[in-house]
Amino acid sequence: MSKRTLAQLDASHLDGQRVVVRVDLNVPIADGVIGDDTRIRASLPTIRFLREHGARVVLLSHLGRPKGKPDPVFSLKPVARELEKQLGIPVTFLPDPASEAAAAEVRHLPRGGVALAENTRFYPGEEANDRALAARFAALGDIYVNDAFGSAHRAHASTEAIAHQLKPAVAGFLLERELRFLGDAVGQPARPFVAILGGAKISGKIDLIEALLPKVDKILIGGAMACTFFRAMGLETGKSLVEEDRVEMAKRLIDTAGDKLVLPTDAVVAGRLEAGVATRVVKRDAIPADQAMFDIGPASVEHFAAIIREARTVIWNGPMGVFETPPFDAGTLGVAHAMAAATDAGAVTIIGGGDSAAAVAAAGLDDRVSHVSTGGGASLEFLEGKPLPGVAALDDAS
Ligand code: 3PG
Repeated sequence: MSKRTLAQLDASHLDGQRVVVRVDLNVPIADGVIGDDTRIRASLPTIRFLREHGARVVLLSHLGRPKGKPDPVFSLKPVARELEKQLGIPVTFLPDPASEAAAAEVRHLPRGGVALAENTRFYPGEEANDRALAARFAALGDIYVNDAFGSAHRAHASTEAIAHQLKPAVAGFLLERELRFLGDAVGQPARPFVAILGGAKISGKIDLIEALLPKVDKILIGGAMACTFFRAMGLETGKSLVEEDRVEMAKRLIDTAGDKLVLPTDAVVAGRLEAGVATRVVKRDAIPADQAMFDIGPASVEHFAAIIREARTVIWNGPMGVFETPPFDAGTLGVAHAMAAATDAGAVTIIGGGDSAAAVAAAGLDDRVSHVSTGGGASLEFLEGKPLPGVAALDDAS
């Protein structure tokens, strides 16, 4: 069922209203320095729209996994400073958003003003989806907007319980965009529809493979998880990472998928994982006993690229090799370039969040694909067909 969105609210009614916006500002921070501001930038269109219509904006987010108690390492203060820079206005920081003082402070925000609350996970009630904590958060506003796609798979007080208490409860622009791209891709894909899956383990991707198989025309498998399939085919995998307890499952998938499943035909192998180490390209049935596969080989990249370039819809989740350790980034970069070429040729190309999004950004190709999801776990669960509690709790579109 489709959900009510911010765009569907009468914007003239936003003037002077306090709008609580759940955003996902869970960004990497080391020593107070933000390593990647993608999620901050992705939250700006909703914030700007609300400000332009005279709303008073109260932002809620988690950061990291602080285990239900305050921990300065996980403070959102550096994010408040970054928001000030990007919005060009002062941002009020609410150190205790569950307090009366925070509610009072928000009432004094000017029209168009913005406040950022401290990490919602500093309260044990957040991850417990506690209604009392949600009521405290709800007391900060008149309207609830969920724009935190990256957290939509979590049923937490600031994503789920609050949406039952603060009405209207609607989807922001980012959440709406994510659901549209991912939903259309799996619901009504232009064909051929190709999924590219990578990463270390098939165990985390089984549900995804099973959900996508009936829908896609091809599913390309890279990353170390290809080695579990190789083992299922009876091939020598040397020192490569193989999930022994998933080999039977891989056999079953090979049988069910038939020619939809495309595995690498060659591999880049080395004796150990180290930047600049001596490597060899071998056929997949010739992985030496004392070596491990750390990337798909050039023939596989070419084969995958040819399939991707012909596709009309492509979804990619998970790197093809250990891309953070060159030269084992070549397969992932090759796929990223093929995605860009497919986009140029008119395909809808979608990058699931997490590692593949980082790889595409590192290759400078993030604006050459149709959509880069801001949610790793959330996009995975959505594509697996699981309901997202943060979305389900919002008002239905009338
Ligand atoms: C993410 O980074 O995937 C989201 O912010 C959710 O974070 P979590 O996995 O700690 O719930």
